[in-house]
Order: sequence, then structure tokens, then C-alpha cells
Amino acid sequence: MAALIAVLPGDGIGPEVVKQALRVLEAAGSAAGKNFEFREALIGGAAIDATGEAFPAATRGLCKDADAVLLGAVGGPKWSHADAPVRPEQGLLDMRAAMQVYANLRPVKTHPALYAASPLKAERLQGVDILVVRELTGGIYFGEKSRDANSARDVCSYNREEIERVLRMAGDLARQRRGRLTSIDKANVLDTSRLWRSIAEEIYTAEYGDLEVEHLLVDAAAMHLLSRAADFDVLVTENMFGDILTDEASMLCGSLGMLPSASLNNDRRGLYEPIHGSAPDIAGKGIANPCGTILSAALLLRYSLGLDELATTVETAVYQAVAAGHRTADVAEAGGQTIGTEAMGDAVLAALAAA
Ligand code: NAD
Ligand code: IPM
Ligand code: MN
Repeated sequence: MAALIAVLPGDGIGPEVVKQALRVLEAAGSAAGKNFEFREALIGGAAIDATGEAFPAATRGLCKDADAVLLGAVGGPKWSHADAPVRPEQGLLDMRAAMQVYANLRPVKTHPALYAASPLKAERLQGVDILVVRELTGGIYFGEKSRDANSARDVCSYNREEIERVLRMAGDLARQRRGRLTSIDKANVLDTSRLWRSIAEEIYTAEYGDLEVEHLLVDAAAMHLLSRAADFDVLVTENMFGDILTDEASMLCGSLGMLPSASLNNDRRGLYEPIHGSAPDIAGKGIANPCGTILSAALLLRYSLGLDELATTVETAVYQAVAAGHRTADVAEAGGQTIGTEAMGDAVLAALAAA
């Protein structure tokens, strides 16, 4: 039976980058004799316009039935005014919660062909290969909220189970990599972080004695990420810290448009999306970088469909296309030829065909 992949293009550049990832998935699948069934559904602003809801029941149902979900991005100025009754971003949060994808894996791997697109010196980029594990279904994103004219509240809370499961996921992933783990918190100020750190110390001492573990405060970690990125292997942190640190880390790779993500729980069904948003400033221009989404499709092949070799083939094709000088505008500083979204998809397909 063909694997069922739910496709949620969303808003802004979402549909533009998802289109390229689907072309790549189709080509990679047919070359390997695998069939995928793609079914599209609405999320975010597009869903609000059509149904009044950001995560409609039909989309929820499809995500439940599918083997994996591929998502573009949600949001945009049209739905973002201060008093908007429904927000596109809430649809994404509801979907993450419904799928219980508590661990968001964001690989940050530099490539020599894009060193010049990063604001950092090349010697700081060599050998950078980090896996950020961001807790995705808890913390301040999901706490109680309230607002009146003159005050507002967002509650940040975590319980033991939420912390333990993501710390274990990160520990298991570090074991499959270089065995180094950095847990990031703000234990000097926040009680949620003090709980996080004490559970991390407990679990990593008792169950992961083979790993080299360090703990960093998030403000210092933001600095260390730029000054000594190559030292890190797996980083694990709570929801909002992980959100912010990974946009920062994307600049090690030259652009926010390069980074993919996989959101996982304990079964194989996962959610795959680039880490960037709907980029309203460039939407509709055909210039968005599709690489983060194509690399997310590769993670989908690896983690949800068990097609590790095919995933590596897709990843290699992306980096071959980049190394051959094919670049979208966001990484133009690295030289080569600046091309649009569709042409970047063509370049990856050409590299795939030659593999
Ligand atoms: P953004 O990530 O959309 O864009 C930030 C900057 O990076 C912009 O200058 C944009 O042009 C650029 N950029 C992003 N992706 C790119 C790509 N693939 N190629 C080239 N350039 C790219 O962040 P923002 O502008 O702060 O947010 C815009 C909207 O997107 C907001 O509504 C926000 O909530 C939403 N958002 C959604 C997601 C998601 O769906 N997962 C993630 C982040 C932001
Ligand atoms: C991301 C985005 C989302 C987040 C928003 C749009 C809810 O920034 O996927 O990184 O903060 O998780
Ligand atoms: Mn983000």
C-alpha cells in the first residue's frame, strides 16, 4: 500500500516551497520504486479564509490517518492584527498538540559552498553538525493566557513527564551521533528551568552515563552557538528557547531557508516542516529557498517511512545542487548563479537524476 502523506501548504511562501518538495519526493520515490499518495488539506490563514478555523476538522482527520504530514508555513499580515479572533499560528500549535509531536528535531549542518553566505568567519563554520531537539508541545506556548486592555499573562509550565520524554529522546539521539549532549535552560531565574535541570541531571546520570553532558544557560548558549558551534553535537531545550536558538543557528548555514525539521512522538507518524515562516516579504515572487522544505521531506522519508537511504540520496542531491553553484537570493552572497524557487527545484531534481 502506498504511504499516505498529508500535504499542508499553508500561507505565503508555504505553497511555493512545498511544491518543490513534492516534485522531489515524487521523483525520489519513483526512482526507488516507492509510491506515495499525497492528499492536500488546509491549515493556517488559508483555512481561516475557507472555513473560519485555522485547523479544521477535515485537516485534523487527515493528519490522524496519514503516515506523515508535510507542512509549508502559516501566517501573514492579513490574519495578524492585534484583535484577530483566530490566528493561523494557533492552527499549527493545535496540530502539533493533536499529533503529540513533543520533540522537534532541527539539524544544523554547515556546507562549505555556503560559508560565504553566513555572517560568521569560515573557520567558525567548519565541521558544524548540530542536532537541536526542541520540546514542542509544552511550556509557554501552551500555558494559560489572558489579556485585558492593560495587562496580559502567558503561563509557562512543565511537568516531569514532558521533560523526561524529550530529554530521553535527545539522549538516545546523542548515542547515535557523537555522544555529546548540551541541555539548555534558564535555571538561574525560572522554576520550570530548575525542574528541567534537576531532571536532566538525574536522568543523564542514571541512564546515560556513557554521554558527555553539559548544562548551559540560554543567554550564554546563544553566544556559544556563534563562538564555538563546532563543539556541539546534540542540544536539547524547552519550546521557546529552541525556537529562538534555531533561527539564530540557521545563520551558520547561510539562511533560515536552509533548515528543515522533523517533529516526532513515540510512533513513526511525524510532522515535517522547514523552520522558517511564511515570509510575507517575498511571498508570490518565486524567489523563496525551497531547500529547508526539501530537506524536511528527506527527514520524512527517514523517520516516518523508514527509507533512510532514499533520505540520504535526497540530502546529497540538495547539497550537490548547492555545491554546483545553484543558489536562491537568500544565499546569493555565496556566489554562484542566483535562481528562483522552481529553478532550485529543477537543480535538485537534476542532481537526483544523476545520482
Ligand atoms: P519568516 O521566517 O517568515 O521570515 C523571516 C525572514 O527570513 C524574512 O525576511 C523572510 O523573507 C526570510 N525567509 C524565510 N524563509 C525563507 C526562505 N525559504 N527563502 C528565503 N528567505 C526566507 O518570519 P517572520 O517574517 O517573522 O514571520 C512571518 C509569518 O510567518 C508570521 O505570521 C509568523 O507567525 C509565521 N511563522 C510561521 C512558521 C511556521 O509556519 N512554522 C514559522 C515561523 C514564522
Ligand atoms: C516555528 C514558528 C512557530 C513556533 C510559530 C509560527 C507558532 O516560529 O515553527 O518555529 O514558534 O513554533
Ligand atoms: Mn520559529
